[in-house]
Parts: sequence; structure tokens; C-alpha cells
Amino acid sequence: MATTTVTVTLGHRSYPIVIGRNLLGGNYDIAAHLPGPDCLIVSNETVGPLYLDRLKANLPGRKLDALLVKDGEVWKTLATASSILDRLVGMRARRDATVIALGGGVVGDVAGFAAACYMRGIAFVQVPTTLLAQVDSSVGGKTGVNHAGGKNLIGAFHQPRLVLIDTDTLLSLPDREFRAGLAEVIKHGAIADAQFFAWLEENMVKLLDKDAEALAFAVRRSCEIKASVVAEDETERGRRALLNFGHTFAHAIENSLGYGEWLHGEAVAAGMVMAAALSDVDQRHRDRLRDLLETAGLPVAPPPLGGNRLRESMELDKKARGGQLRFVLLDRIGAARISSEYCAQRLQDILGQAASAIS
Ligand SMILES: NC(=O)c1ccc[n+]([C@@H]2O[C@H](COP(=O)([O-])OP(=O)(O)OC[C@H]3O[C@@H](n4cnc5c(N)ncnc54)[C@H](O)[C@@H]3O)[C@@H](O)[C@H]2O)c1
Ligand SMILES: [Zn+2]
Repeated sequence: MATTTVTVTLGHRSYPIVIGRNLLGGNYDIAAHLPGPDCLIVSNETVGPLYLDRLKANLPGRKLDALLVKDGEVWKTLATASSILDRLVGMRARRDATVIALGGGVVGDVAGFAAACYMRGIAFVQVPTTLLAQVDSSVGGKTGVNHAGGKNLIGAFHQPRLVLIDTDTLLSLPDREFRAGLAEVIKHGAIADAQFFAWLEENMVKLLDKDAEALAFAVRRSCEIKASVVAEDETERGRRALLNFGHTFAHAIENSLGYGEWLHGEAVAAGMVMAAALSDVDQRHRDRLRDLLETAGLPVAPPPLGGNRLRESMELDKKARGGQLRFVLLDRIGAARISSEYCAQRLQDILGQAASAIS
């Protein structure tokens, strides 16, 4: 199966997303994208033992160092970023050094942030190994860490030089993580491409079987959609916010449950169903979205949460945003828009249903 390349077009900062099988096995010349000899690979204690040696073998003749950080969202912190910076200083990395992130979105976000900070920004390469990271977090240049006061509160835009997606790495990914990544794939179809959405309806079973051809196509199409949105609106002043479909509800779910109870993609799945309920969209389209998410084994309703937890969390969000909530509303499968105009009563009903689901 051929390797494909999707380009993120950003002038002189344009970069390729290379998608294929066994790319870590030597099928791609990663070294060609590194500006200088110094290179720090950042991975974690789970992914490092699986893929670090293979990645290293692709970088002969480089001054390589590797740092394995702890595994988990709770480690996406300034302290971890700081440990990466310490290592760069320790190896006397020069301005032409490269940080390579090998792992899921957590590793990518924190390593990218360290790369953005070291000497005001050094080269960065993403080697994403979760489906979510391959179709979402590794593309677009958002990097950052969490703070006790909020998720992703500290960060920077720092585009990678290369995103290398070896779809074979998905074979070792736990099933639940894989399904969570599918939520973002379905999101891309729902907001931007009705044909892709229909393809997903046809091919979901193959995807769940991790059929190589189906996976390559789904990853490629998702990256194309994300890349085109990012190329148009790199710093999210407008259209990029469409990628937040389902995310206002998802964040409320994540905040109410406590992070880590549900995976992000699971919260996004339920959030998209809720956002579709808030949209003036034909019921058939709502049903198709719900059915596809269900087939992917994802939740289509929020978790049982007592009382008004979701409502309260959304109120806090509203306050933080200067008194106005914005939602991505679905016009039909394949088309969405960003709006702060929505039916307040319908929102209350949707949140109310979530509360009454358990009482
Ligand atoms: N920067 C962005 O634009 C952006 C977009 C979406 C999400 N994110 C961030 O991404 C993070 C979530 O990323 P995630 O879902 O990849 O979670 P993650 O990085 O925590 O990875 C999930 C789990 O899978 C393990 N893992 C990764 N690859 C594996 C493999 N090939 N085989 C076996 N295990 C593997 C990890 O060690 C971890 O335990 C969040 O912090 C979120 O804020 C960032
Ligand atoms: Zn998301």
C-alpha cells in the first residue's frame, strides 16, 4: 500500500503529513527533515518501549537523546515541559536541534510546547501513535500543558516540520482509545464532508477491524479536512472553531465527571449528539450521526451526573467566555456553522434530559 502525503499549506512553514504503513520500520527518511544533528525524542513509558528503537534506527548519524515521561493526562504539566527543557539544556542542544514527539496527544502537546519555548522555538516533528493524535492533535500546531486552573491553559502555536503517521502503530493501541479517536474522525465528516461521512457509514466495521486500507483512507481524509481548516485559519479566529463541534458539551461532561473518567473522544461523541439536538437540522441527519457513533461503540448520551452538574459547568464556561456561549451547530451532515444564537430553552432541555437520565 502506497504512502500518501497531505500538505498543511502555511507559506514557508508548510509541512507534510506522511501517512503509511511501517514508516517506522525504515520506509521513510525522517532525517531529511531535521535541520541539524541534535535531536531529542520525547515519548512516554508505554509507547517508548514499543517504538523508540525503531524510530532511533531511522536517524543514523544524529546526536540522539531520548526522554520517557510518565504516561497520562495528569502529566501534561509545566513540570514535565520543564524536564524536557532541562534535558535539552543538558545535552547542550543548539538552535538547529529537533524535538521529536513519539506518542499520543499528551506527549505531542507537551513536547511541542517545550520545542516552542527552547531558544524561542526549535524544530519539532510529530510521530503520533494514537488515532486521536493522528487525525487531530498532531496536525495544526497547537501545543501546551494543563494548569490546576484549567486544561490547556498554557500553550503556544508551534507548527511541526513533519507529521509522520505510521498507521501500524494503531495495532497496539487499546480498543477504547481507538474508538475515542474515531469520534474525531466522525466529527470531520459531520462538519465538512458528507461523502466521507457516508463512506464511514459503509466502512465502520472494517475500521473497527483495523483494516489497513480503510484505516489509511480514514486517517488521510481526516488529515486533509483538518489541514485545510488550519491553512485557512491557523490561530482560530474563525473557521478553525468548527473543529470544536460537540466540544462545548464535551468540556462540560469532562469538567463535571472529572478528567480521566471518560476519554476525550467519548465525551466528544455524546457532545456531538447534544450539539445536533441543539441544531435546526433534519431529524434524519441527527439519527445518522447517532447511529454512526453507536456503531463505533461510542456513547451517544452524557453519563449519569447528579442534579445540575452539566448546567453549572456550562454556566462557568459561559462566564469565562465573557457571558456568551458559542456552539458549532449542524446544518446537515457535512455542513456546520459557528453560532452564539441558539434556542436557550432547547439548551436547557438538553441539559435537563442529561440530569433526569439518572433520577
Ligand atoms: N493540540 C491539539 O490540537 C489537540 C487536539 C486534540 C486533543 N489534544 C490533546 O491530546 C490529548 C489526548 O491525546 P490522546 O487521546 O492521544 O491521549 P494519550 O496521549 O494520553 O494516549 C492515550 C493512551 O494510549 C497510549 N498509547 C499511545 N499510543 C499507543 C500505541 N500505539 N500503542 C499502545 N498504547 C499507546 C498512551 O500511552 C496513553 O496511555 C489531550 O491532552 C488533549 O488535550 C490536543
Ligand atoms: Zn477533540
